[in-house]
Amino acid sequence: MKILMVCLGNICRSPMAEGILRSKLPEDFVVDSAGTANYHENQKPDKRAIEVCKNHGIDISTLRGRQFKLSDFDEFDRIYVMDHANYSDIIYQVRKESDKKKVKLITAEDTNSPNHISDPYYGEIEDFEKIYRQLDSVCTVITEKFAKENSLQNA
Ligand code: 4NP
Repeated sequence: MKILMVCLGNICRSPMAEGILRSKLPEDFVVDSAGTANYHENQKPDKRAIEVCKNHGIDISTLRGRQFKLSDFDEFDRIYVMDHANYSDIIYQVRKESDKKKVKLITAEDTNSPNHISDPYYGEIEDFEKIYRQLDSVCTVITEKFAKENSLQNA
């Protein structure tokens, strides 16, 4: 199973989501992230994202920004977007129905989530901490869902 996390810049929300989900899933899952924009190609995650993840025992400092590309629709089984603008930007690029089916608002997985993950870029470290908690909660639900699907397949 290959999962792609998508936000706008690929330096705040999606690298955090990538690190958090990877820390919860078995190693045979592939988790990656990308931005709808190319502003931060090859750049490290935002210092505040690195710091907040580090405080929770997750190292995202080696990740580098990249833009979403059409071949990601072939490469990944699930594409989780952080907000409605990301959703529109990715849906605009779908080539066929099976691409569209892979794209989901990440917060739709968790009934306790807010209805999107807000962009913390112009916020404070507390906003990054809040987003960490939201992503941690939804990634726990996603992990439980995959575990259930897996045990059903192996039954
Ligand atoms: P992200 O946050 O989409 O969570 O990575 C942003 C990062 C950079 C910019 C916007 C949002 N920017 O405009 O450069």
